[in-house]
Amino acid sequence: MSNIVVLGVQWGDEGKGKIVDLLTEDADAVARFQGGHNAGHTVIVGKKQFILHLIPSGILHKGKKCIIGNGVVIHPKALIDEIEGLKKRRVSIGKNLFISGRAHVIMPYHTLLDGKHEDAKGSQKIGTTGRGIGPAYEDKMSRTGFRMIDLLDSAGFKAKLKANLEDINFLLEKKYNQKKISVNKIYNEYMKYADYLGPFITDTVVMTNDLIDKGKNVLFEGAQGTLLDIDHGTYPFVTSSSASAGGVCTGLGVSPVKVDGIVGVMKAYTTRVGEGPFPTELHDSLGEELRAKGGEYGATTGRARRCGWLDLVSLKHAFRINGFTGIALTKLDVLDGLDKLKVCTSYKYKDPTKNKACKFTDMPQTVNVLNECEPVYKEFEGWQKSTKGATKMKDLPKQARAYMDYISEALNVKIDLISTGQKRDEIIFVNKPFKKRK
Ligand code: GDP
Ligand code: IMO
Ligand code: MG
Repeated sequence: MSNIVVLGVQWGDEGKGKIVDLLTEDADAVARFQGGHNAGHTVIVGKKQFILHLIPSGILHKGKKCIIGNGVVIHPKALIDEIEGLKKRRVSIGKNLFISGRAHVIMPYHTLLDGKHEDAKGSQKIGTTGRGIGPAYEDKMSRTGFRMIDLLDSAGFKAKLKANLEDINFLLEKKYNQKKISVNKIYNEYMKYADYLGPFITDTVVMTNDLIDKGKNVLFEGAQGTLLDIDHGTYPFVTSSSASAGGVCTGLGVSPVKVDGIVGVMKAYTTRVGEGPFPTELHDSLGEELRAKGGEYGATTGRARRCGWLDLVSLKHAFRINGFTGIALTKLDVLDGLDKLKVCTSYKYKDPTKNKACKFTDMPQTVNVLNECEPVYKEFEGWQKSTKGATKMKDLPKQARAYMDYISEALNVKIDLISTGQKRDEIIFVNKPFKKRK
């Protein structure tokens, strides 16, 4: 048996969906452990494109169990729409989908407040996906949230909703000059969702651990990325969940000793969507070229992604936190045809209090410092030969191999997979992360 985590190394959108889909071949179950429908995981099967938001990216393989763990926040309508959308496209969903009763529920007021909080922040806004993720996790932490299992107790749900709405309506009316939200409207709506989703709700902690104990291969699928992690990311420009490896244990109720490998999905360059510091961002035509070639537009919101060079300072930070046992390097093909490539090896920073320049090789702890950091680059020769669709290492130009060797050495990690296009077969398998299944 082996249980493998697959998660994002950077600011999300590294290509986790494609890698999870590929590795599902060797897995028995795929489980999401955090985040919500802020995620957008793209999988291309043949000529069809699927974008998964809440449902694990293993769903496109028949017979694999797909689990939405307790650490996820669920917008019931978004989940129902996703299920229905997949069914229409002949993806079978029924006894293969399991939802944790302990997962928290996104309520209509969470979505509303997400927008209001962002508006109130003005130029300091985070640039959230507007999906209500932050407010839902706030309620979870303040112990006023609803869990999926609560949907199945209609009287209890109504009583708690009434109590919650007293505070929420006060805020909406007094602070945001909004109309009150009616208890009955939400109650009636959510009871319909309960009827639909009820059959999928189960104790996924028992289920996941049973699978592990039986020697099955379980893949833990991360959403977002390490630099968006609530603790370890570029706070406050982060999401509200634990997107790094630690989130697997709390988000699924799985012990750390059961995790056998952690594969970091790493884009061959860097992107970020939303606000926040990004030292290696390219503000010139090269940034636009990467965006156009890489199709760097958000899979959830359609927003243009900011593009830049690879950044070893933030990558080393992500490696330290996650202890990656291997890497899936994606979108190598997007770098084809560039004259030169750059990798940031450290940051230069002028401390205004001391009027003295210093160097960072470890990630600074505040965004104020990060915003003022100037990247120091190492240059690499580009390659003119296409890597698109390459399936063998020997087909890659020597400059591309030199670029990857440098990354692999600098981060002291082996590259297990190299992705050379959007499609399933556009991949170089160096090592298969899963051991043989029983
Ligand atoms: P995720 O959120 O990490 O699953 O990533 P997204 O799906 O949001 O964004 C990644 C985008 O890159 C998707 O459009 C993928 O189809 C695409 N993609 C993934 N791997 C590759 C690759 O190796 N090359 C190219 N050109 N595109 C890729
Ligand atoms: P996947 O799983 C990229 C970003 C938002 C914003 C910040 C907070 O597809 O990689 P939130 O709505 O979570 O409160 O927004 O996090 N963000 C993502 N960026 N990929 C994602 O998911 C993201 N999910 C959230 O843009 O900057
Ligand atoms: Mg995405």
